[in-house]
Amino acid sequence: MPAKQSKLSRAVRIKYNILSRLYDYIWPGYIRKTVGEAMAPLNLSGSEKILDIGCGTGQLEKSLLQKWPNLKITGIDLSEDMLGFAQKRIGSNPNIIFKQGDFLETSLEENSFDVAFSISNLHYFSNPLSVFEKVKRVLKPGGLFIIVDWNRDSFQGKIYNWYMGKADPAFAKIYRISEAYPLLEEAGLKPKNHRFFGVGLRWRMMCLVAQKP
Ligand SMILES: C[S@@+](CC[C@H](N)C(=O)[O-])C[C@H]1O[C@@H](n2cnc3c(N)ncnc32)[C@H](O)[C@@H]1O
Repeated sequence: MPAKQSKLSRAVRIKYNILSRLYDYIWPGYIRKTVGEAMAPLNLSGSEKILDIGCGTGQLEKSLLQKWPNLKITGIDLSEDMLGFAQKRIGSNPNIIFKQGDFLETSLEENSFDVAFSISNLHYFSNPLSVFEKVKRVLKPGGLFIIVDWNRDSFQGKIYNWYMGKADPAFAKIYRISEAYPLLEEAGLKPKNHRFFGVGLRWRMMCLVAQKP
């Protein structure tokens, strides 16, 4: 992995190990809204295999299992403390695996997932193409990739991108839709649609859906 991303990932891991105890309490409305928006495009039979990149405290896993209890889910996160809360939230379930590590370095079976999610973490990757290429490898043909993240198409996103770039070592970049589309295509994924939404006045979000042909 390039040195820039290793340094970034180290900072992200430290940041979220510190934040883990507070994470669910500081941003409950934000998490509910972003997880809900990420699940909106789903039309599942209930036995699919799901990948959650940067699964955090397992909020997506909990919401998915409430609706489809037989899903098989792999959640990956850099922060062992965030994963500790995820494990507590889900309890013992042989269908749910949590792996600690960097998504870019975690070994995953190729052509094996029906849906991959990246919720609120694309901005932690300095090279999104490498993320998209890996997602393409591990998705089954026809599999969906659902990204929810901040976007730089908005005024707030531009300001936030500037501010976070100066203030937070655990931050790479907020992407524009017009940056994400060509990178998805370069990785061999087909962008299907996107929509913008807000969480309060502060957060300008995008939900972007792509598919492996
Ligand atoms: C804002 S939290 C979002 C957590 C969860 N997706 C949610 O919506 O509640 C971002 C998470 O992404 C994880 N993360 C960031 N970069 C990562 C990477 N390269 N590999 C794995 N996890 C990563 C962080 O550790 C953190 O737990």
